[in-house]
Amino acid sequence: MTDSIALGQPTVGDEELAAVAEVFRSGWLAGAGPACRRFEERFAKVVGTRHALSTSNCGSALFLGLKVLGVQPGDEVIVGDYTFPATGHAVLQAGATPVFADVRPDIFSADPTSIEAAITPRTVGILAVDVAGQPGDYDEYRAIADKHGLWLFEDAACAAGATYKTRPAGSLADLAAFSFHGRKGITAGEGGALVSDREDLIAHARKLHTYGIEPAITREGSGELPIPSFHELGYNFRLSDIQAAIMGVQLGRLPDLLATRRSVAKRYHEAFDGLPGVTVPVALPDREHPWQAYILTIAPEISRDTLALRVREQGVQCNFGTYASHLQPLYGKTESLPVSADIFARHLAIPMHANLTDQQVDRVAETVSAAVLALS
Ligand SMILES: Cc1ncc(COP(=O)(O)O)c(C=O)c1O
Repeated sequence: MTDSIALGQPTVGDEELAAVAEVFRSGWLAGAGPACRRFEERFAKVVGTRHALSTSNCGSALFLGLKVLGVQPGDEVIVGDYTFPATGHAVLQAGATPVFADVRPDIFSADPTSIEAAITPRTVGILAVDVAGQPGDYDEYRAIADKHGLWLFEDAACAAGATYKTRPAGSLADLAAFSFHGRKGITAGEGGALVSDREDLIAHARKLHTYGIEPAITREGSGELPIPSFHELGYNFRLSDIQAAIMGVQLGRLPDLLATRRSVAKRYHEAFDGLPGVTVPVALPDREHPWQAYILTIAPEISRDTLALRVREQGVQCNFGTYASHLQPLYGKTESLPVSADIFARHLAIPMHANLTDQQVDRVAETVSAAVLALS
């Protein structure tokens, strides 16, 4: 059997290893150190915000963001339904209630009409998700937020390098959270960031991410003996300096990685053009899609699950897309969100990463096409 083609794969190599060796030599391996600071400055520039805080992952960035926005038990936060449940989990972790909004059938992010319909007197904000990295309708989100006095938070977990009307993902809301998990466009294995133009929010989050005090680096080299005191319950949500050094290299690679993903997407689009039973993902003309994932929508008359198994049998990894949050038992929801439920049942994610060769892309396309035709 020919080699298996992975669904996602990081692009890392000697430069990342050299950056890690440099951190070893520096002696500062812990989190929130000099490598984190350097990465944060560069990352903020790339995503178009004044401030960035590196975090242990995107889930912790989402949670910290909700905490510094003042989310409390009894509050409701509107969340785009079609997402990895880290988004809804963060709202629960902050003690509030996620209220899920149905999504657009073409780009899978929250439908502004569904958001507006979900607003109640308890609503405090909107947590929008850039699904597979493509930003949702931020002009409309902002208009709704302003009209109802809500904050707007961007779950940009998959969106490094994306744009909306030329503005970078990360700069589209009051706060944004990124993931550097191994299946994301840039990665340190695990990791995340919280970004914002608002210094007060990031400064507060910086304290909370290091047990409620300023990080040790602020006391380094002091001629005094500063002894911080603890006033607020904090956490250890730090990115390590080892990871930050890797992220520094990954940030430099971002333009090339995006270009490769774009060309993979283009080759898939061409290969699936005209194949009955399969709809290719849409990249809207006013936004740059970073192609964190490439998700096909399979016609209802073809079993997505059988198709996935047939494709996997050929050594081509594939999976469902992401989750319809409201169907997850944890949340105890009873309402129906038909678009999200439908795409949850019909999506098929196929290999998308920056190490794919043209031959591999062609093999994926041929394998999927043959399986679709056999099941039609
Ligand atoms: C939309 C979205 N939000 C949040 C997360 C959580 O990211 P992390 O694993 O870095 O906590 C993910 C991870 O897949 C995601 O896709």
